[in-house]
Amino acid sequence: MTPKNKPDKMKLEKLRQKAKEKLNKENIQKIQIENMSIEDLRYYIEELRVHQIELEMQNRQLLETQEKLTECGRKYSDLYDFAPVGYLTLAPGGKIMDANLTASKMLNTSRKTLIGTPVYRYFDHEDRDIVFLHLRKLFRDYGRHTCEVRKVGKKPEIWLRLNSVCDENKHKNRFCRTTLTDITDRKEMEIALFRSESQLKLLSQHMIENQEKERKRIAYDLHDGVAQLLAASKLFTQNLLNRLSEYPEEYQILAKLLDIHQKALTDIKRIVSDLRPAVLDGMGIIAAIEWLCKQYQDIDPNLTITRKFEVDEKEVSENLKSVIFRILQELMSNIVKHSQANQVLILLEKSDGTLRLVVKDNGKGFDPENHLFKRNFQDGIGLISVTERARTSGGKFELSSSINRGTTVTIKWPVED
Ligand SMILES: Nc1ncnc2c1ncn2[C@@H]1O[C@H](COP(=O)(O)OP(=O)(O)O)[C@@H](O)[C@H]1O
Ligand SMILES: [Mg+2]
Repeated sequence: MTPKNKPDKMKLEKLRQKAKEKLNKENIQKIQIENMSIEDLRYYIEELRVHQIELEMQNRQLLETQEKLTECGRKYSDLYDFAPVGYLTLAPGGKIMDANLTASKMLNTSRKTLIGTPVYRYFDHEDRDIVFLHLRKLFRDYGRHTCEVRKVGKKPEIWLRLNSVCDENKHKNRFCRTTLTDITDRKEMEIALFRSESQLKLLSQHMIENQEKERKRIAYDLHDGVAQLLAASKLFTQNLLNRLSEYPEEYQILAKLLDIHQKALTDIKRIVSDLRPAVLDGMGIIAAIEWLCKQYQDIDPNLTITRKFEVDEKEVSENLKSVIFRILQELMSNIVKHSQANQVLILLEKSDGTLRLVVKDNGKGFDPENHLFKRNFQDGIGLISVTERARTSGGKFELSSSINRGTTVTIKWPVED
């Protein structure tokens, strides 16, 4: 027994007084000891002593129980009130039935004030609908539900996560138990990540657009500048050559020069075409794809390329046309370089507000996990640039490939009907 639990003298005296009063009040028959024999007296005294010991034992037991109850209360308070998360017990309408001290600290309101008030008022006006739907779902579907909302009050924003459980209970008095966790740090990180991702997306969109513009500019500069000069120079050389037929040595030298001119012009033409194929300007997307297929069929004559077009090409914007062309260029180059396929299907179709490009080969396939996500800097970035082009133009990129089962790439763009 701890000293604090020892019966207090004053209390005992009071108790004794009360017992005496009760004895007098109830008029309990007094024992006539004058007529008692010594044996009777001995018997009664013995009985009284046994009662006294019994009472003492009961009292001790009571005190022990009280001590256990105090310990339980302390544990409950430690576990419930001082838990690292806030606890709320909520009624279906959102009324707070109970709250621990952590919850009252988190909501900056005393527990007394919290109890009986609707939980919504402690959250930001814009997020109250979320809490409302959270509770509606909880009391309708039971089980566990979570939501993330902002606390009411001035900035900086405090984010709380509500994790609630409601057991299926046939009785009328249904409650849910909700924990409150401060997730402000995580939310701030998420917001920062979202911002930097958006900036990165914008940057990569600009880069792709600028790359296309720059390619076009260099192609036009080469075509209109150097190539024209070289063509003029070739013409002069040709003229001179015609006049030198009587001087075989000089003729030979000039013929070689003319040959070099021709090769340089062919090279420039190829570079110009690689930079910005003429089909991309002025012609439709179908003509551009046909031209591209011819290029790859020349590179690999064993390749059969089947084309299916189910699209009104006027509906494909100039910008999207370049995107589709560049994506197809990379995918076809991968097929020729890596797949060992002999069949390719190119499908471009528009239906239900979606423009869909599918490129499917029957080649050896690969493990996309290995190639796309565990890359190092030596690896090519073809597929990554395809993904980026698709994403920055508002499309969704999907790739499915497995060893010996070919590769299929699908890109879907939402377009207006
Ligand atoms: N159609 C395909 N068939 C088989 N393997 C492919 C195909 N497309 C891509 N790959 C594999 O994915 C890898 C990554 O392709 P990519 O990003 O374009 O880089 P690169 O072509 O420069 O290697 C390739 O090295 C190849 O192993
Ligand atoms: Mg590639």
